Amino acid sequence: MAHFLVFLGTVRDSTPPAPARLGLRVARACVQLLEADGATVELIDPLDIELGNVFKPHFAYPTSRVPAALDSLAGKIEAADGYVMVSPEYNHSMSPALSHLLNHFGSSLFAFKPSAIITYSAGQWGGARAAVAMRTFLSELGCLPVSAMIHVPRAQEALDEDGGFQDDPDRWAGYFGRTLGQLGWWAEAAGSHREKQDPTEVSPAFQRAPDQRNAP
Ligand SMILES: Cc1cc2nc3c(=O)[nH]c(=O)nc-3n(C[C@H](O)[C@H](O)[C@H](O)COP(=O)(O)O)c2cc1C
Repeated sequence: MAHFLVFLGTVRDSTPPAPARLGLRVARACVQLLEADGATVELIDPLDIELGNVFKPHFAYPTSRVPAALDSLAGKIEAADGYVMVSPEYNHSMSPALSHLLNHFGSSLFAFKPSAIITYSAGQWGGARAAVAMRTFLSELGCLPVSAMIHVPRAQEALDEDGGFQDDPDRWAGYFGRTLGQLGWWAEAAGSHREKQDPTEVSPAFQRAPDQRNAP
């Protein structure tokens, strides 16, 4: 059975707008639904990962000097079969906490595995505008987003603090299930094929810098 990482895209400690870290509810709902489907799941909370004030990605360190927290997460990303990216909408864009965390890791860790885009907001649009640009971001990272997306408007009313759906849980589970089902299907398919053929045989990872993919 597949193993997924659910990335939570908020580190917000401010009210208003209340409640803070609304995204925990959405991420918990995803974890519960994936586990109910038999997957193993780890919630990745950016508050648990010390990134420091300067930006220095995992791949920029000499191997022996990578900070333990970054190296541990890199190992988890590499070992996972797929990813759920849970983002609020901030100024019609993807969460800066999520993009900042993901920018620390090279695409070879994510590549040839699927992802699911899940956005939410306290208002009525459910983060749909942020979700559009997430497709581009995640495609560049190599974890192609499945076609179905989840948008949760008024997430503070839709979900309780434990990630339970407040009203119409079956309908919500069906709505989430369409996207998470696609994620599971592609994760199984990609996993089987990775066992048959190492993807770097057909698309070698960059050894030096992204300009290795440039046209002659
Ligand atoms: C800086 C900032 C920008 C926001 N921009 C948007 C926005 O563009 N669209 C929207 O629907 N909600 C927006 N909101 C409201 C968020 O949907 C709401 O605060 C939500 O709870 C944020 O998720 P979080 O609590 O998990 O951080 C914004 C909130 C903040 C703090």
